[in-house]
Amino acid sequence: MGHVKLGVNIDHVATLREARKEKNPDTVEAARVVYSSGGDLVVMHLRQDRRHIQDSDLERVRHEVKGLIHLEMAAVPEMEKIALRLRPDSVCLVPESSKEVTTQGGMKLDGKQADLARVIKNLSKAGIEVSVFADPDPKAIRAARNLGADAIELCTTKYSESWGKKLQAEELEQLAVAGHLVKELEMELHAGHGLDYYNVGPVARIEGMDCLNIGYSIISRAMFVGLKTAVSEMKRLIQ
Ligand code: PXP
Repeated sequence: MGHVKLGVNIDHVATLREARKEKNPDTVEAARVVYSSGGDLVVMHLRQDRRHIQDSDLERVRHEVKGLIHLEMAAVPEMEKIALRLRPDSVCLVPESSKEVTTQGGMKLDGKQADLARVIKNLSKAGIEVSVFADPDPKAIRAARNLGADAIELCTTKYSESWGKKLQAEELEQLAVAGHLVKELEMELHAGHGLDYYNVGPVARIEGMDCLNIGYSIISRAMFVGLKTAVSEMKRLIQ
């Protein structure tokens, strides 16, 4: 296993803050701890309904902390404009619906979506690395490549949900096969969603894995052991 980067999603720091609409817990402080504890990127999902991360979180982390920012967003004109203004280092395009509690699976891709291709092109032109959140499905991966994406983030939801069940080995195998294709297409390989301290190991060991994006399990653990320990423990597990 090479060096697998860890992207720490701090959405749920903002979820707690939004529960009171106060200043704490502060995402800038969280970002500082992430970077100083072995996190390689700070990940934020700016949702269209702004249920957790706000535009000001992105702005403040960008301007007040030194480090890589990875923005998850829907491929819509509003978000494209924000990304082009705030210049995160990388963007992951995700499907988004207002009723979902969390992202539901990868983007539906057929390689012919002109709108999506245009968003990818505009972000790339601005020097932002673009990944697409995709299910471990060869058709979706090839379509993302054809649309101009630099990287694929494999959706690990099904694998995570199958943990401890018979299906788990099959889901892991699908991720590994999909990962192989991503590398064959000379794209960066990312994975995430639903990963925790128990199920992360086999995904981190998939050949060619470049980066894992993890949020909920790290922020939950931070409640009891602190963010510094929660991040460094996860980092150690994926090395
Ligand atoms: N990757 C993507 C594309 C996501 O949308 C999310 C959730 O925002 C994550 C990773 C992190 O998922 P989790 O919070 O379950 O670790």
